[in-house]
Amino acid sequence: MSVNFAALLFLVSAVLFILALRGLSHPSTSRKGNIYGMVGMAIAIGTTLLLAKPGFSALIFIVLALAIGGGIGAYIARTIPMTAMPQLVAGFHSLVGLAAVLVAAAALYSPESFNIGVPDDIHLRALIELSIGAAIGAITFTGSIIAFLKLDGRMSGKPILLPARHVINIALLAALIVFVVSLSATANPVHFWLIVIVALVLGVLIIVPIGGADMPVVVSMLNSYSGWAAAGIGFTLGNMALIVTGALVGSSGAILSYIMCKGMNRSFISVILGGFGGETAAAGGGEHVERNVKTGSADDAAFLMENASKVIIVPGYGMAVAQAQHALRELADVLKAKGVEVSYAIHPVAGRMPGHMNVLLAEANVPYDEVFELEDINSEFAQADVAYVIGANDVTNPAARDDKTSPIYGMPILDVDKAKTCLFVKRSLGSGYAGIDNELFYKDSTMMLLGDAKKMTEDIVKSIE
Ligand code: TAP
Repeated sequence: MSVNFAALLFLVSAVLFILALRGLSHPSTSRKGNIYGMVGMAIAIGTTLLLAKPGFSALIFIVLALAIGGGIGAYIARTIPMTAMPQLVAGFHSLVGLAAVLVAAAALYSPESFNIGVPDDIHLRALIELSIGAAIGAITFTGSIIAFLKLDGRMSGKPILLPARHVINIALLAALIVFVVSLSATANPVHFWLIVIVALVLGVLIIVPIGGADMPVVVSMLNSYSGWAAAGIGFTLGNMALIVTGALVGSSGAILSYIMCKGMNRSFISVILGGFGGETAAAGGGEHVERNVKTGSADDAAFLMENASKVIIVPGYGMAVAQAQHALRELADVLKAKGVEVSYAIHPVAGRMPGHMNVLLAEANVPYDEVFELEDINSEFAQADVAYVIGANDVTNPAARDDKTSPIYGMPILDVDKAKTCLFVKRSLGSGYAGIDNELFYKDSTMMLLGDAKKMTEDIVKSIE
């Protein structure tokens, strides 16, 4: 295959990746976006193989690796519960980082296979690219593993704050720069492995001080790093598709981190410097003082809802845990059949990953035109008769709006307290992810519906029917 034709095919795959990102930006086009991404990746892999013309035995290894990796990926994708998606993403990012390190090592030890010189005389540009790619890759590898352990609850979400950690990090960063320069000057493999070791340690130290509540931002930031590592290696390999894809992943990860920081009212710098987040509250966890609460039954809720003219549903993490989306859709259907106007309000960080609620509602075939983002629906709560808060907590907590001392102060919230009645479905008066009490439970206009989100919603449907 001619180099020019290969470049054209790489360009086609890059365009498909851009279309994939565009498609993934809305639930109604996300399936199409996924297909664009898959076709783009197939073209990129095929073109790379045709360009490299591997021998028969190498081809067998490549096909075997693709089959094993693809098989494991397909199995995990099919079996993973939606609630474990954030840690899965973190785990996969670690592999991208590791791949960048391994490709850089292969290029260093076998430069002629990469057309970047011979062992004693590797092109300077390639040395700089591969050392930076390996450094970012190693940071991504260990950083993502720590993020995985924290999100999966195998390690405490509490920030681990080492004394003088900023000084240690700056010293390690300086050492990293020195080794990158010395590797570029000498091509000595010892310096390469020093880069890798320092970067592996740095990856751990950057992530351990970050608290549980900031983890989603960290995962997206590591996603961005893994993209830049891939782009760096793309330069070494002279692979245009890898450069473009890496840059797309790098920049989209950075943009997503920014959007999430905005959604949680956190500055990116303060996330990186660590602190907030503390112990993540397990379901039902969190401390609360004994106070009066108004509790109700499914029948009470059914009565209020069928006599309402406008109901806004606010789903949160608990809906995902209970897998209540199908029951919720049924509830909306019976209400609409009775002439009630129903819409869904989605907070940007509801659940445990960006778009978590949208994915679940789409799975239950909730019409897209009934689903609204926070800024488009917040003013509607004042006209709503009922806000049906199902498994959401932090994203409705008025402390974020009113209490300057609250750790979530400044995070935009859904103004469910402005609705005439707020029905809160959850199993206890425990706190949500941020581990803080919610004043809303004790308001006169709130009725707590204590129970599992799916069971309670099904009971309300039965009662209305
Ligand atoms: P949370 O504040 O975490 O509250 C979820 C509530 O669901 C809990 O208080 C829990 O109360 C309830 N729940 C759990 N299982 C349930 C079940 N089976 N049935 C009924 N209720 C159940 O959720 P949220 O309001 O969606 O807010 C998201 C939080 O996660 C924010 O603090 C956000 O910053 C953080 N976060 C977001 C992301 C992204 S990107 N979306 C990622 C990681 C973290 P009970 O135990 O009393 O039932």
